[in-house]
Amino acid sequence: MSLTVNFGYALSKKLAGHGISNEMLKPALERTAKALDHIRTERGANKLPYLDLPEDGKTKAACKELADKYDGYENFLLSGIGGSSLGPLAIFNALGHPLHNMLSGAKRKNHPRFFALDNVDPVQVDALFNFCKPEKTVYNIISKSGATAETASASLIIFDLLKKRMGNDWKKNIVCTTDPTSGDLRKLCNDEKLQTLPLHSGVGGRFSVLTPVGLFPSYCLGFDVDAMLAGAAEMRERCLDSDVQKNPAAQMAALLYLFDSTQHKKMHVMMAYANGLYGMADWFRQLWAESLGKELDNEGRVVNVGPTPLKALGATDQHSQVQLYIEGPYDKVFLFLECKKFGKRVKLPELYDNVSSLNYLGGQTMNKLIAAEFAATREALAQRGRPSITITFPEIDAHAVGEFFMLWEMTTSLAGALYRINPYDQPGVELGKQLTYGLMGRAGFEDKAKGIKV
Ligand code: PA5
Repeated sequence: MSLTVNFGYALSKKLAGHGISNEMLKPALERTAKALDHIRTERGANKLPYLDLPEDGKTKAACKELADKYDGYENFLLSGIGGSSLGPLAIFNALGHPLHNMLSGAKRKNHPRFFALDNVDPVQVDALFNFCKPEKTVYNIISKSGATAETASASLIIFDLLKKRMGNDWKKNIVCTTDPTSGDLRKLCNDEKLQTLPLHSGVGGRFSVLTPVGLFPSYCLGFDVDAMLAGAAEMRERCLDSDVQKNPAAQMAALLYLFDSTQHKKMHVMMAYANGLYGMADWFRQLWAESLGKELDNEGRVVNVGPTPLKALGATDQHSQVQLYIEGPYDKVFLFLECKKFGKRVKLPELYDNVSSLNYLGGQTMNKLIAAEFAATREALAQRGRPSITITFPEIDAHAVGEFFMLWEMTTSLAGALYRINPYDQPGVELGKQLTYGLMGRAGFEDKAKGIKV
């Protein structure tokens, strides 16, 4: 069973002039087909290694071997940010029990609790380090560059804590995931002889979920890594199909590009109708924003392009956002995530036959209710001229999760070509980083922060 993508509600036939017509789609798909050829060439020249991660058995085995060492540990504390945390968080959200961290060890099948230190909020940092006993916690420090201030600061605490609490054994519970050859963290790992996993050189942070960034935590948590990689590989083949009518990434990239650039629909709202898929929307938000939001095009011209990805949760946000979606500006396209078969079936008891707001629900299921809420919202939006695309998960499992990651990574590569920008860099975040370094007194950056007060 594979993910399906329904583009019907994005096309003008259904949307009284607000969708994309076949005449508009045709030239965009022709450009997408050329971009696909380019992707194939780049892949052949080994310039897009993210596409071949599903076949990297060596790295997979290294992750598994290391994860086995931590069998029975109580906690997994990931320290990373952006592309170094959002993927593992999305996987945990999708595949973990909703109350995983509150379950007893036995109920967790002796897999560790999972925590992500992805901010420098002092209260969160303090709480996590106090809760996790160093002897029973695996600390996974993830940083591709090995220089990110947020992750570097947490790693100082980890090193200090473990040196104090575990003496000569202080390195035992630390695993660093970083670039195989470059960066300060790699150097430090080499000098200190810390355990490491490689974050492939040619794979950027937000494309790295299928590297040890996502695989090592997945093994530690008992998720089906083989199924996730198989799902990604299958989706890659679907998204390499030169018949663009059948290719979900080509259709997705062309439609979303057209909505933004010709229909003023710059808000791309991913609305998950399953709590377990909300983390996917978070992961998508970073991928779409950081990859496509660019000042310069490939020729160096100022273009300031990029759609704004947003996230929402159905049915919850029907009571928060949908009024705006239905009656507000015509500036949005919706990306629904639907789950066909939930892991549980919850029946509604038949009580209070004489209360009309209760009696029609009795005897039905919560599963039917969430499906009805989704169908109703999509239809209501369509009837008011609001386009949407639906990605249907047959169920939320590792295979579908892998498919989803690859679908959006390839859609992002193709969208980058349509916008004529480089989707793999992030020059815009550099200035803020440099000012932070200056404000924190890092040598060489003092001038940057002159005149700014903390
Ligand atoms: O996608 C990206 O490249 C970024 O979001 C990075 O993942 C993020 O800035 C963290 O960088 P690093 O892994 O180098 O610490």
